[in-house]
Amino acid sequence: MSIFRDGILDGKTAFVTGGTSGINLAIAKRLAKAGAKVAVFGRNEERGAKALAELVEVTGDAAKARYFAGDVRKYETLEAAFQGTAEAFGTIDILVNGAAGNFPAPAVAMSPNGFKSVVDIDLLGTYHACRAAFAHLTKPGGVVLSVSAPQAFIPAPMQAHVCAAKAGVDMLTKVLAMEWGPMGIRVNAIAPGPVDGTEGMARLAGSEEMRKKVADNVALRRFASLDEMAETALFLCTPAASYVTGAIMVADGGQSLYGLGMLAAF
Ligand code: COA
Repeated sequence: MSIFRDGILDGKTAFVTGGTSGINLAIAKRLAKAGAKVAVFGRNEERGAKALAELVEVTGDAAKARYFAGDVRKYETLEAAFQGTAEAFGTIDILVNGAAGNFPAPAVAMSPNGFKSVVDIDLLGTYHACRAAFAHLTKPGGVVLSVSAPQAFIPAPMQAHVCAAKAGVDMLTKVLAMEWGPMGIRVNAIAPGPVDGTEGMARLAGSEEMRKKVADNVALRRFASLDEMAETALFLCTPAASYVTGAIMVADGGQSLYGLGMLAAF
């Protein structure tokens, strides 16, 4: 259910990293449905083509959607994509930092490169996207929204890499809110809990037994839908949140209230 009218983002441009699947694609489609021109960025070109087709279906206009291939770990690929987006759509009003990686593993069982890969995608990638987007962001009026996680502030076994990376994302969010607030740019994050239809949840809770264990440790006793996460993200990207910056909006059904110790069972 939505309280936002269609067209609330008419004339706006959004850029979504990792926007070719999962929560990020749902956010990209929601922003498009609200009227924004949307560019999605991701390294898998097959997924990119599919996401683009879905976005065009939402907008009904191929001129309002773009896919750019790249990896948030490679700064120059982001720079090129922002340039391409600016050439196609003008300045960028909304940046969503969604690209993320995850796999469950104890700290000593993952390789140093496994740890580094997640930190590089989640944290360094978020910094890269913010830095490369800055020149193109609308000032005043720009919005940055990062997709964080409860692991940023709740320690979780098997998730040392994600906890470290997402804690960094939350701090980066708050620092950039301070540095960019005077220019009229709002910088926030959402921390989704378990969401149906995502690769992350398929990896972390693939079996029915595991799904039940996860849901039993959520106050609302269920997973979120992609639409629910997209709606929360939309709120932070609209003028309805015009005085919200430096905020980490926890949208986890109350999962973090219970802690994440149960992840030791993975
Ligand atoms: N368990 C332990 N280590 C793993 C792993 C797993 N399930 N999956 C990947 N790794 C390690 C690899 O072994 C490699 O380290 P090595 O070079 O020492 O062997 C390192 O991670 C990088 O793996 P690689 O295959 O080169 O992929 P990548 O650099 O593209 O990283 C990941 C991608 C690791 C983050 C991967 O999990 C991913 O892309 N996931 C998809 C995105 C996702 O899950 N999104 C949801 C986020 S909530």
